[in-house]
Amino acid sequence: MDNRPIGMFDSGVGGLSIWRALRKLLPQESMVFLADSGHVPYGEKSTAELRDLTTRIARFLLSQDSKMIVVACNTATVHAIGHLRETFPAVPFVGVVPVVKTLARWTRTGTIAVLSTPATSQSEYLAGLISEFAPDKEVINVGCDGLENMVEAGHVRTRQTTALLERHLAPVRDSRADVVGLGCTHYPFLRHRIKHLLGRGVRVYDPSRPVARRARQLLRQGDALAANPHPQYRFYTTGDAGLFGLVAGKLLRFPVRDVGHVEI
Ligand code: DGL
Repeated sequence: MDNRPIGMFDSGVGGLSIWRALRKLLPQESMVFLADSGHVPYGEKSTAELRDLTTRIARFLLSQDSKMIVVACNTATVHAIGHLRETFPAVPFVGVVPVVKTLARWTRTGTIAVLSTPATSQSEYLAGLISEFAPDKEVINVGCDGLENMVEAGHVRTRQTTALLERHLAPVRDSRADVVGLGCTHYPFLRHRIKHLLGRGVRVYDPSRPVARRARQLLRQGDALAANPHPQYRFYTTGDAGLFGLVAGKLLRFPVRDVGHVEI
């Protein structure tokens, strides 16, 4: 047993979609979440910048006594998780990547769609997943600039967000795609809008739960699951603590108080 917290991070509030899944699956785990809101969006950064930022974040989370680090961000995972594992070999890392394999298994039409940030959509990592798991499928790979910023501002139901979604979803709607993967952790907070805009015949896949299950599996293997009767949830941001608390509370429908501001 290990009652130390699970550390998690994202460029902002998006990783809370994974936080929510973890809390549901592992209600006795304490968690410390860092939103790197001072550097959002990650989707427009280079690999070198992402490696540098995430290394500094991992150091911070380890200084908070984290027993594991969940990289609750697709962009950071595809560009930096290998580097993090090399830099901190004793730390278990769990990442999140677009679920190409599952989409390829589910499609009936042979066309799948992946929505992600520009940095993820153009990454070699995603290209590798596609050639490994969906070589015989048509893949609509959409880099959705600007969407994470809408979620960061708490604008999940505004006309502006719908207009942006309509633009990004146009190539999906014009295709035969019957399954869509959410390849950015900000997008699960837009899932209902996305489903609504794509209509009934299209399944929209959110990978948060499988990520939480993977974390549980690793903790189990390391005999490191917690048994906290009163788990602690701590939140930090490198940006505006008040804004983060407000938006996070709204997205999670859970009071997010005492958000700490940190420089990394
Ligand atoms: N939430 C992040 C992801 O899963 C990145 C969003 C951003 O900062 O661009 O990719």
